[in-house]
This record gives sequence, C-alpha cells and structure tokens, in this order.
Amino acid sequence: MEKTITLNNGVTMPTLGFGVFQVPDSEQCETVVREALRQGYRLIDTAAAYLNEEAVGRAIKASGIPREEIFVTTKLWVQDASYAGAQRAIDRSLSRLGLDYLDLYLIHQPLGDVYGAWRAMEEAYHAGKVRAIGVSNFEPDRVQDLMMHNSVKPAVDQIQVNPLAPQTAAVDWLLANDIRPEAWGPFAEGKTGLFTNPVLVQLADKYHKTTAQIMLRWLNQRGVVVIPKSVTPARIAGNTDFYDITLTAAEVAQIAALALPDSQFGNSHDPENVKQLGSWTLDI
Ligand SMILES: NC(=O)c1ccc[n+]([C@@H]2O[C@H](COP(=O)([O-])OP(=O)(O)OC[C@H]3O[C@@H](n4cnc5c(N)ncnc54)[C@H](OP(=O)(O)O)[C@@H]3O)[C@@H](O)[C@H]2O)c1
Repeated sequence: MEKTITLNNGVTMPTLGFGVFQVPDSEQCETVVREALRQGYRLIDTAAAYLNEEAVGRAIKASGIPREEIFVTTKLWVQDASYAGAQRAIDRSLSRLGLDYLDLYLIHQPLGDVYGAWRAMEEAYHAGKVRAIGVSNFEPDRVQDLMMHNSVKPAVDQIQVNPLAPQTAAVDWLLANDIRPEAWGPFAEGKTGLFTNPVLVQLADKYHKTTAQIMLRWLNQRGVVVIPKSVTPARIAGNTDFYDITLTAAEVAQIAALALPDSQFGNSHDPENVKQLGSWTLDI
C-alpha cells in the first residue's frame, strides 16, 4: 500500500498512524505526539479509555500543522455503548481533543448496546461531526450483522494483527467487503521476544531494516493500516521507514507461520473477560 488509501466512503486515510495506548501521562503523551507529527505521522490513534485525548489535542494544536492534514481517531468506551451514551461520548471526546470534528470514530469493543451506539454514530456522521465511523475488535460475523441492520457501513475494523496473530481470514474478509483492516498491537507489544525472533532478524538483515520495520511492511503489504506505539524518539522515527522494501510472497507466508494458537492479549470469548471489560468504568 502507498502512504494513503481511500476508505469506502471516499475519505482518505494514512496507512501509518501513531498509537497512544498506555501513554497515560499527559505531558509525556503531548511530547511524543508532537514528536510523531514532527517525524511525519499524520494519523493519531487514541481512545476515550486511554485517558489522553486532551494531551493529543494539545499536541495537534502545538504542531501548527493544519487540522485537515491530520487524521484523528478516537473510540467509544463500553460504558457509553448506547444511543444516548454515544451521543454524549462523541461530544465529550471532541471537547477533550479541542476539535470540531473527528476523522474516524470507532466502537472500541463489541460489547453493550452497539446497535444504539451505531445509530448515534450514523447521526454524527451525517451531521459532519465524524468523517468516518467504524468498529474495533469486531470479528467478521459481528461486522456482517451490524452492516445488515444499519445504513452506514463501517469504514474500518481495528483488530489485533501481528506475526503472532496474523488474522488471515479476518483480514481477507474485511478487504473483500471493502472495510479497511487496521492493526492494533502490530508488534504484539514485543511479547514472546518478537523483536528478536530469528525469522524476523534474518529478514531484517536481508533488507537492512529493523525487525519492527519488517513487521510494519508485512502488515502494509497485506493491506492493513498500522498504528505502532512508541515513546522512544529513535523508534518513533524508525517506525515510519518501511515503504521502500517489498517482501516476497514466501516471506509474507513465513512471517504468518509465526502464528500462535492463542492470543497474547486474553481470550475475548471468555465470559470473565467480557465481565471485566464491561464493568470497567472510567471518569470520562
Ligand atoms: N482497539 C483496541 O482494542 C486496541 C488495543 C491495543 C492497542 N490499540 C492501538 O494500537 C496501538 C499500538 O498497539 P500497542 O501500543 O498495544 O502495541 P505495539 O505498537 O505492538 O507495541 C508497542 C511496544 O513496542 C515497543 N516498540 C515500538 N517500536 C519499537 C521498535 N522499533 N523497536 C523495539 N521496540 C519497539 C514500544 O516500546 P517504547 O514505547 O518503550 O518505545 C512498546 O513497548 C496502541 O497504541 C493503540 O493506539 C488498540
């Protein structure tokens, strides 16, 4: 993929973004988002649940980059997954970010009254408060059901995709349905020593890249938007530099073969997990 793609509603989206999960410290978040914008990132991925929308908003303002050149994504937390909840949550996110529109608004989890939430999101979309709406952590069957019973089709599904969880079937299904897959945890947060995995190290040596860059290009070549997170300036810069290599089909398959049977981030089908996420209430 090139540096931008067109979503199913005609909106242009960068194929590389900067994620700010687990950067709760406000000053640090503002600093790293400013650094990311300085290094050329033009998509910032936050969420109401990350508790750093205000810092992201300050960094955008301080960057001096025209608003229309930055693609801002935020997400609806489970406690607001209802019609009235989503209406309120969108306005609150806009106010914390200091923006008058969002580029992409996602339902963070397939939990709660997501149908009510989607109707409020459709209204916000038609009112111009949000340029595109989508989902996150929805498996294809849930996306299919949402599409069938509503009028606006999700533009994006943000799901975990990385060498330990290649998500081949889900990515193929989303692409075939013109819904853009976006990878959270593109490095699986380095779990199982992924940054020093021998397969990735060998490819990094071959292409004179880092293992992080190999993982990003692997996702990008498969049509998946990436939003790596880092608070380290050298990594923030390095994670932008992957567009100039092309992995062979055999290498793409070799990386996909690193898949593990279980997610490194818990089992979303476990009722205990659902209970935990569904009762996690935040002051937002
Ligand atoms: N929708 C969802 O449910 C969901 C869930 C999780 C994440 N997300 C989104 O996806 C974004 C990315 O996922 P993530 O933050 O979970 O994990 P990630 O991007 O896979 O990994 C981040 C980790 O990798 C390290 N790292 C980054 N670049 C590196 C490099 N070049 N070399 C070595 N280490 C490197 C970072 O360390 P340092 O920071 O110390 O440099 C950090 O520990 C999030 O920030 C968030 O926006 C969404």
